[in-house]
Amino acid sequence: MNTIVAGNWKMNMTLPEGRDFISGLQEYLQGKNLKSQLILGVPFIHLPLSLGASEAGIYLAAQNCSEHSSGAYTGETSAQMVQSTGAEYVILGHSERRQYFGDTDEVINQKIKEALQQGLKPIFCVGEVLEERQQGRQEKVVHTQLERGLAAISPAQMEQIIIAYEPVWAIGTGETATPQQAETMHWSIRKHLSELYDLHVAEKTPILYGGSVKPENAREIFGMPNVNGGLIGGASLKLDSYIQLIELAEETV
Ligand code: PGA
Repeated sequence: MNTIVAGNWKMNMTLPEGRDFISGLQEYLQGKNLKSQLILGVPFIHLPLSLGASEAGIYLAAQNCSEHSSGAYTGETSAQMVQSTGAEYVILGHSERRQYFGDTDEVINQKIKEALQQGLKPIFCVGEVLEERQQGRQEKVVHTQLERGLAAISPAQMEQIIIAYEPVWAIGTGETATPQQAETMHWSIRKHLSELYDLHVAEKTPILYGGSVKPENAREIFGMPNVNGGLIGGASLKLDSYIQLIELAEETV
């Protein structure tokens, strides 16, 4: 499976900054034939940049979408609107959405269904908080998030889904899960997918690791057998470090 290098800009980057980043990346990619797959999770305002970017092999993701299809929901953005920009992906269930915006497992499940219906590919995030890990409950917590978030999602729909394991204690803290901790959880997620679906789904679903991935630790993390790439926040905001991450991913494909 090709390594996926997915950035998550969160609430950063003005329109000109985003344009500069993407045109710098397009320039870097000229004449290169990468094996890894590049995705950038950007604020909604940048999504129209998809049109030029995908030709260069840069795919854009929204960082959220509404669980509703359309209507009187002031300030919301629908999956169909995201899809109409040319974006292919949408990050759903990120821990910051769960923590600050009330995205419950049930809401996330509705958003995943709505995204799939509109032809978007969800990057579905799961992960435990520190206390749950200290109590040794991390696998149980993540399995429950998977069961609820993927409720009534068919094996065929699973082909459109990427899972991102992001231990909440490692997000933006500078503290990373050890490659072994990541591998253990990724293996456990795959095993659980084989129970919820079948071996084919378990093997084919990309599982990204997220939480303080940076050029200094990415080689080891990307090299783990059940890690198919990264969802990268802070280190995706600077073009040079994002490029370094792409180069490390290329070594592991
Ligand atoms: P971080 O964020 O790389 O800055 O820890 C990762 C994420 O939240 O997706």
